Amino acid sequence: MRCRLGCTRNDLYGVLYHLHRALFILAVTGLCLLTGSSKGQRKDDPLTLRAAAEKHHLLMGTAADADLLSDAQYASTLRSEYSVLEPENEMKFDSIHPAPDRYNFSGADALLAFAEANSMKVRGHNLLWYQQVPGWILFPSSPWTPAALNKVLADHIATVVGHYKGRVYAWDVVNEPFNDNGSMRSSVWYDKPGIGYAGQGTKMIEQALRWAHAADPHARLFVNETGAEGFNAKSNAVYAMAKDFVRRGVPLSGIGIELHTGIGFDQPGSLDALQANVKRLAALGLEVQFTEVDVDTPNGDRFGMSEEASVYRDLLDICLRQPQCSLFQTWGFTDAHSWLTRPNGVRGWPLPFDRAYRKKPAYRAMLKRLEGRGYDGPRPLHAR
Ligand code: G3I
Repeated sequence: MRCRLGCTRNDLYGVLYHLHRALFILAVTGLCLLTGSSKGQRKDDPLTLRAAAEKHHLLMGTAADADLLSDAQYASTLRSEYSVLEPENEMKFDSIHPAPDRYNFSGADALLAFAEANSMKVRGHNLLWYQQVPGWILFPSSPWTPAALNKVLADHIATVVGHYKGRVYAWDVVNEPFNDNGSMRSSVWYDKPGIGYAGQGTKMIEQALRWAHAADPHARLFVNETGAEGFNAKSNAVYAMAKDFVRRGVPLSGIGIELHTGIGFDQPGSLDALQANVKRLAALGLEVQFTEVDVDTPNGDRFGMSEEASVYRDLLDICLRQPQCSLFQTWGFTDAHSWLTRPNGVRGWPLPFDRAYRKKPAYRAMLKRLEGRGYDGPRPLHAR
């Protein structure tokens, strides 16, 4: 667009916009030429996380909310930038099984329909968790016996996984089962009164995995944990469980590492520990998935956003370099709908898109890293 004498302010903005975009594309193109990357964006490639990740055979995912699918910007960003979506709440026990004799699949069905209409995969979340348990389980009219609760959970898993058989490609079967000290977390499912495996270590987890596998033998089955990113008692408990399950042929496909982090995470100690933890899990032959990435910042200023971008880049780098890391998934994608709402109601700034769905430095850092080198061979999902 040429700017004639007497240009208006809008004309100047238009020129500046196109100039900025041209410089950005030049920068990305230049980077591709410099790195000789075979994965450089062709001129007509859409600059999206989804497309750029596909060049590494990496799934790029996000938690998603069925109630927001009617928001055009939300839906447009979700379908263009992500190859996997995961219901943030719609498949949790309290939502999908609100009463003893009633299932509510509506929210999850809407997300499945959206995903299938946009060639996206769906990751199910979750079948057994100590949170978001409905009242009819927590406060029964008469106390549960372990045998009765065992049947409730067995029927729940068979019904939910069976309902989505062949459509949900992976499940967080058990979510956050461990305490920080590595012991089993006390819960209605474990020991209050539990499903019959109280005091028997990971037997409860094993049973849930076997029920899920029976309901859909082709689904990938994960145990998902928070606070087990590096080396600590919890991650050691996860590793010990995984090693035991692999040895005994328990149907476990992989481990979900949630990665709810903050801008201080990209210290060498944290990143090295994460990389080493990922490596030891992968050495068992398991998939490792980064399942709930967000990077909390004390405020949304330029420094915070720059630090946040570094963390996203470094986490993505670790996943890209590990062939067994098959998914990089954020817990939502726009700050407008992050779960990290401040007590004063102001939402945090933890995700790659801002409240107006503009691409933040974190987005650009991830896209730039995806244009760089890194393992780009087959990953577990593509290997079979
Ligand atoms: O559905 C009810 C609604 O009927 C009610 O009007 C409203 C107000 O009370 O609450 C709604 O339920 C909320 C639910 O999200 C759905 O929006 C719950 O109060 C709220 O506690 C729940 O928060 C979710 C949280 O898990 C529960 O612990 C967050 O959205 C969700 O992002 C978060 O996700 C978890 C992962 O599942 C596991 N890993 C940690 C992660 C963050 O906590």
